[in-house]
Amino acid sequence: MGTTTAALFALSGHNVTALDIDPNKVKIINKGQAPFFEAGLNETIIKGIDSKSLTATTDYKLAIQDADFIFSCVGTPDKLDGSSDLDFIFEAAKTAAKYLKPGSIYVQKSTVPVGTGRKVQELLPRNTTYISNPEFLRESTAIYDTLLFDRVVVGGDNIDAVKKVLGLYKDIEENSKAISQVAQLDILDELSEHTGQYIITNLESAELIKVTANAFLALKISFANSIAKLADVTGADINEVMNAVGADPRIGRAFLNAGRGYGGGCFPKDVSGLIASAAEHKIDMQILKAATEVNNSMPSYIINRVKAVLGESLQDKKMAVFGLSFKAGTSDARKSPGISLANLLYKAGAVVSVYDPHAIEEASTELQSGIRICESAFSAAHQAEAILIATAWPEFKDMNLAKLKETMVGTFIYDADNALVRKTVANSGLTYMGVGKS
Ligand code: UGA
Repeated sequence: MGTTTAALFALSGHNVTALDIDPNKVKIINKGQAPFFEAGLNETIIKGIDSKSLTATTDYKLAIQDADFIFSCVGTPDKLDGSSDLDFIFEAAKTAAKYLKPGSIYVQKSTVPVGTGRKVQELLPRNTTYISNPEFLRESTAIYDTLLFDRVVVGGDNIDAVKKVLGLYKDIEENSKAISQVAQLDILDELSEHTGQYIITNLESAELIKVTANAFLALKISFANSIAKLADVTGADINEVMNAVGADPRIGRAFLNAGRGYGGGCFPKDVSGLIASAAEHKIDMQILKAATEVNNSMPSYIINRVKAVLGESLQDKKMAVFGLSFKAGTSDARKSPGISLANLLYKAGAVVSVYDPHAIEEASTELQSGIRICESAFSAAHQAEAILIATAWPEFKDMNLAKLKETMVGTFIYDADNALVRKTVANSGLTYMGVGKS
């Protein structure tokens, strides 16, 4: 979020200094690269660095002393009890406070529990302004989402500062066609027709909008997975069901894709963070507890479905898991369902090989040590009895299934991210099972 924001402001007429405490990330950005895989981001960073509108540093003073706007884009990971760890939020604000110039605007983009902003505000000099500006971009489509935004939300007490922050996003909007070309995104037509909303709120509303949006999306996914379990035992097809249910504009089709459940650095911790922050106000978010429970049930549900085909014991059975990132299009493997599934298979005695086109490095520390990491899907599938697809990377959708079958000893594919078309798989002589596909 921070890197994308920095690069896109730099490409819309502003001088941006990207600040991080990790010298390695700073070095990579100054070389004109993103410190992780994200479509189009390298190209925008190179452009910013070459034109000298973007530079990165570890030096707070250098980054902040002349800045009119400071965007805080730090992590808010979950603690063991599920609540949000706000140490980075407060540390960043305390250190920045030493260098903020009078009249500067401190903008919080990090996801924080409602009420956090007032506490951060107390750490900042009185002649500066605090604004909440939650972020809605998704990993893997970060630039696309920023250019084709549904809404930009800015909340705070000082309306002039709010309008100034909105102005920065209007600069991105004005430059969106040029930026899309730098990022090599083919979205000129979409941009021509695009209208996003600029929404002004109070500070607390802006904070609550962000976590509410993520929690509602997580709820939709768990709802779809609950119905998928019923579809599995009754002969219904979850995609047919959700296509028709989602055709009702009151419901909407987005985020009703059943599969192995949600992962990543946002939904799991934002849902648990909202449950915890509501509990502090003595409000029981039962509905979100249920969503979490359904989500946590998905990996073992899937393993049981696999066992129903391969037999109760997976001891010494050779299995391949394709996809370790928490979703396609990113190298991020935080709270990744693919990793949980590979580890569960391994713990059940299976001989597990895994492959991912971009996430091997980020996933490797989370994988059980006996799991074999492979360089290609075909090498992971070699002599496998079954393949479990955990992440719908395009290369898995486009695989030569007949060739895949030749390299396997078995014929079973469990499609945990509902990426493949059953008929195509069946035509190649493989046995298909997906989530909610009976
Ligand atoms: C999410 C939100 O979608 C963004 O709007 C928000 O800005 C971001 O969190 C954040 O808080 O920073 P992200 O976590 O990058 O974005 O990814 P999503 O595309 O939302 O997917 C999250 C998880 O849900 C993935 O594991 C994905 O595979 C899963 N998912 C998504 C489903 O299982 N079914 C669906 O229908 C959609």
